[in-house]
This record gives sequence, structure tokens and C-alpha cells, in this order.
Amino acid sequence: MNGSLEFETRQNATPVAVAEREALLANLGFGRTFTDHMVSISYSDGKGWYDARLEPYAPLRMDPATAVLHYAQSIFEGLKAYRAPDGGVVMFRPDANAARFVRSAERMAMPPLPPELFLHSLRVLIEQDRDWVPGSGESSLYLRPIQYASEVYLGVRPALQYQFLVLASPVGAIFAGGAKPCSIWLERENNRSGPGGTGAAKCGGNYASSLLAQAEAMRHGCEQVVFLDATEHRHFEELGGMNVFFVLGDTLVTPPLTDTILPGITRDSVITLARHRGLTVEERSYSIDEFRSDAASDALTEMFACGTAAVITPIARLLSADGEIVVGDGGSGRVTTSLRSALLDIQYGRAEDEFGWVQRI
Ligand code: PLP
Ligand code: COI
Repeated sequence: MNGSLEFETRQNATPVAVAEREALLANLGFGRTFTDHMVSISYSDGKGWYDARLEPYAPLRMDPATAVLHYAQSIFEGLKAYRAPDGGVVMFRPDANAARFVRSAERMAMPPLPPELFLHSLRVLIEQDRDWVPGSGESSLYLRPIQYASEVYLGVRPALQYQFLVLASPVGAIFAGGAKPCSIWLERENNRSGPGGTGAAKCGGNYASSLLAQAEAMRHGCEQVVFLDATEHRHFEELGGMNVFFVLGDTLVTPPLTDTILPGITRDSVITLARHRGLTVEERSYSIDEFRSDAASDALTEMFACGTAAVITPIARLLSADGEIVVGDGGSGRVTTSLRSALLDIQYGRAEDEFGWVQRI
């Protein structure tokens, strides 16, 4: 494996005009705008990782028999670069994403990309497209590394060729309501993942299997879906694209990490931050019955979703076929709000980085 490839650079000859870029950055949603460049690295059995390029962002040409289109051997990551108050650019815990990318690759029988090559790729792309890092509000540059089976072959076995790409997308909030409390649909029939499956890997298939429930959630006016464990359908696991926390006074409860839950980097940061601030954090199973009784007795004061895209988003209502349960007073609770601003202050380089999470570009 080669962790220190030379990058060949091909500049985009027709980058987005400055005025157009400024207009795009002034009006950001999530995931529809992309910067001028991307990173591409190839892999083949025998050669290892080779042909590292920084090149213009452009559509891919693919043979219809490319393995990923058939058997979904693909993984991805999501992390952000932020504009710091002094105008510099910082990344939040990219080493944790590099390590998770390796674990995801191993679960999906793919060759792991050396973490130093993952990190170098992010830096090369951010340095090139630095002007795309937004400077206002809670916007940031979302980085999306992906790795997929690029071999043209219809046999079912781990591919012998792969492509690694990094895209960058300036983003605002993932939910239309921004940091406003959201509603969650409780899924009771379809599982996202099961014991021994791929739930802990960040692979495309996990998202494909969550979409039927996500569509149901959206039909009920909910932003996201929460899944229960696949065996008993009793314990909360996670949302389609975020981890979940329950707040009971000064105690935070979050489901323990198993092979069915994605080990979120935001989840891990929230646990560290909360403990540092004197809150108790319990990583334990939390059932739908406990939820109902804690909500009825007002022991459950807050609930929130967390992830790179969602940051920390309060959850005000849980909907299911049985009706609706309002969490706490239905607003953005004290604990959620204060953890959210503490996390954002670190991510944007506004607060002291006591945990060594922030890397300057
Ligand atoms: N769970 C799922 C299924 C996700 O897609 C994400 C988002 O990446 C998370 C949890 C949160 O992970 P992280 O905090 O590393 O973004
Ligand atoms: C992220 O937060 O990075 C994710 O991958 C979640 C997805 C819903 C955008």
C-alpha cells in the first residue's frame, strides 16, 4: 500500500465565476452545489493505490457492468471544513473519519485506503477550493469521500479494482427548519440493519435499506426516521442518518454501539463534551416502553439527533402508527441548546480546542 502518492493536478479551466460562487454561497441548502475540483485515486489488485489526481469536478463515465452498480460494494464518509474567525480553514476530527473509512472498507471486503492518503486528499482539495468554504452563519464545506468497486465484471466476489473520490459541497443546514426542533417517525416494520449485518459500516446499502421507512416518515411530515433493534423491535438504535440521545434531567442516554449502529463521530464528541461539562452519560439500551413512561412522567426532558450534517438537532415529536408523543415542552431544550453551541464553537475554531479535535489547513 502506498500512503504517500504524488498528486497530479489538472486545474478546472472553466471554474464557476466569482460572482456566481458568491451567490451560491449566500443561499445554501444541502448537497446540491459542488466545488470546482475533486480528488480521484485508483486501486487495482497488484498495483495497489495509484494515479492520484486533483482534477475538475465532472460527471463520471461508467461501463454499465461496473460492479458497484450491481452489488453495491461502496462506502463513504462525511465531514466538514469550517471558516474560522481569523479567516483560516479548519477540519473537525478528520482522523476519526479516516479510521472509520478503513473499518467500513474492511467490512465491505475492500482494500483500505491508508489514513494518511485519506487526510492528504482532503487537504489537497480544500487548499485548491479554499474560496468555496463559506464564511457566514452555520454554513461549512461538506467533504464527501467515497470508495466503490469499479471493476467491470458481473461475477459476485470482492472486486479487483476500486475508485476513491473526494467531492466537496458548500452546505447550510440539512433540515429545512435549520436548528428548529424536528419530528421523527418511529419505524416498526422495516429494519435498517440487523445483527451480523453492515449497520456499523458507512456503506451505501444501509441507506438504501432505510429509504422505505424514510419515505413513510416524510409522508407523516417527519424529517427523519428512527429505527428499533431488528430482533425485538423494542430498543432504539439510530436514525436513518444520525445518532440519537435522550435527555433525562442532567443525564444523557444513548444506545450502546453494536454492529447494527454507525459509531458517529458527533456522538462520540457529544459524550466527551457532556461528561466534561459534568453531565452523566449512559450508553445503554433504551426501550420504547421506557420512552413512553418517561415522556408521560416528564422524566424525559429532551431528545436530540446528532451527526455531521445534522450537528445537534432537537427532536420535539415522535410519531408512530399509535399517535404522537411530544418530548418535554416541544421546544429546543436547555441541555441540547448548550451542547450544540459548545460543539459548534469548537468546530468553527471559536472556542479553545481542549480535546485536540480541530486541524488547521
Ligand atoms: N448514523 C448514521 C446512519 C449516519 O449516516 C450518520 C452520519 O454520518 C451518523 C450516524 C452520525 O455520524 P457522524 O457523527 O460521524 O457524522
Ligand atoms: C452525515 O451527516 O455526514 C451523513 O452522512 C448523513 C447524511 C444524512 C447526509
